[in-house]
Amino acid sequence: MKHVLIIGSGISGMACAVRCAEQGIHVTLASPFPSERSQSVMAAGGINAVLSGDSQGDSVDSHIQDTLRGGCRLGGVRAVTGLCENGERILRQLEGIGTVFSVDPQGRLLRRAFGGQSYKRTCYCGASTGKQIVSALVMEVRRYEAQGLIRRRLWCCFHSALIREGVCYGALLFDEAFGGLDAVCADAVVIATGGQNALFGKTTGSTQCDGYAAGKLFMQGAELKNLEFIQYHPTTLETAQKRMLITEAARGEGGRLFCRKNGRTVYFMEEKYGPGGNLQTRDVISREIDALGDSVFLDVSFLGKSVIDNRLSELRDLCAKYGGIDVYREPIPVRPSVHFFMGGLAVHLNHETNIRNLFAVGECASMYHGANRLGGNSLLAALYSGNVAADAIAGREGRQTAPPDFSAETEREKQLLGQDRDTQSRFPVMYIRDLLAETMQKNLGIVRNEAHLTQGLKDIDYYLSIAGRIHYDSSVMPYFNYSLTAILTLARATMACALSRRESRGAHWRSDYPETEEAYQSATVMAYDGGKYSVRLDKERAYES
Ligand code: FUM
Repeated sequence: MKHVLIIGSGISGMACAVRCAEQGIHVTLASPFPSERSQSVMAAGGINAVLSGDSQGDSVDSHIQDTLRGGCRLGGVRAVTGLCENGERILRQLEGIGTVFSVDPQGRLLRRAFGGQSYKRTCYCGASTGKQIVSALVMEVRRYEAQGLIRRRLWCCFHSALIREGVCYGALLFDEAFGGLDAVCADAVVIATGGQNALFGKTTGSTQCDGYAAGKLFMQGAELKNLEFIQYHPTTLETAQKRMLITEAARGEGGRLFCRKNGRTVYFMEEKYGPGGNLQTRDVISREIDALGDSVFLDVSFLGKSVIDNRLSELRDLCAKYGGIDVYREPIPVRPSVHFFMGGLAVHLNHETNIRNLFAVGECASMYHGANRLGGNSLLAALYSGNVAADAIAGREGRQTAPPDFSAETEREKQLLGQDRDTQSRFPVMYIRDLLAETMQKNLGIVRNEAHLTQGLKDIDYYLSIAGRIHYDSSVMPYFNYSLTAILTLARATMACALSRRESRGAHWRSDYPETEEAYQSATVMAYDGGKYSVRLDKERAYES
């Protein structure tokens, strides 16, 4: 019987697991936390889908064109077409497994306007769409678990892949509960570990998503793509620990951005872009706010109690709880913050990496969003990519021969983990992670330039040199110790990608290269070999995906 190891149990991991189980494939679904605590539950605004018989005149073709335009022509046509064509099927499936969507009195799905889209096509569950989808998928996973097709393994972190001559045979998992390494062999491994928030510290996402798996796999030979495209969400609320997402749904329902100039209220987006100003794509709005350098506010008060209570109640509660703001009466102070990573593991159309039998799905894979993602497309892409990888695996022969012997590698890694430890390190691991976050925020902001990016590289090289000297920091869990070098390596690759793209496009804006250049109508592909990083512009990779 075929066996797939899926690492990460958010929406994309679960979508892949369920689709595999539907086709009789055995799945191990490994994650450090239960699905209910994955970052997927934070997804607020909705999921895009063109519904048949749409009375507004929307079409799948329009969704495709909006997605390609939003991604500044770096999202591949074939991939984006598949994504958009499957929107309604996925949505109906979600309904079928009990996802509670917001509907009108006749039971028809409600849809809201989201940035960069020609029609209202974002289906939603209030402002807690991710949570509703996670709940429904967890029930499906449990159903297959009861049938013995899915086995959930909690408190397990990815350690490394078992790779021999460009083929993946499984992975080493670090079991937090027992403190040991476990080699799990499988016909295929699917990475579904989300984005790289921890690199930046305070973001709208979870620092559980630290990019470790992508960094480690990169060091093991997997290629990375388009890392420089980092989405700043224009409207977040600053709190001490993180940035709270002020969902785009607020603007989709009519909320207006403004600033104050010489005592005057200026609706700067509407003044510059007309009535659709507040729903420009995220890269555009974030840059406008950044350039203002002033305090910016979002006003939803005029929408009235019934719209706020019925469609934006989570936003209302969040503002009251974390900002002491009464949105019925007061505007919300907002600023852009890191929200989503368009780049990640480079995958082919079937979501396989350059390493055979190693797949990546969801935010950790770079595929559909090009230089800038449209709101509402990430939930769709998480579900769709999980399906695509599962179908590719199902369509393949299972392994006919025993996997190679990885016991020597496993033993070596075990010894490294248990090695004599330097508990006196002057550089605690978490301190280096904080320094890294500062470096990334400062040098890889909304607008970049060569001087900053070069400084960022220098800083990271320094952290890497220290990381090599730290054997152990007794104040943190073992995972934080062994993950540090790979996380720094991913950060270095990200900075180097941004330095290499000498143009401005979507979420990558360079003050020293302000034009979009035809020569860069390509993917940035980054490889690593024996400590050497190499970056190339790859036209085919951009178009294949
Ligand atoms: O603003 C939001 O609700 C975010 C949605 C998304 O990133 O897709």
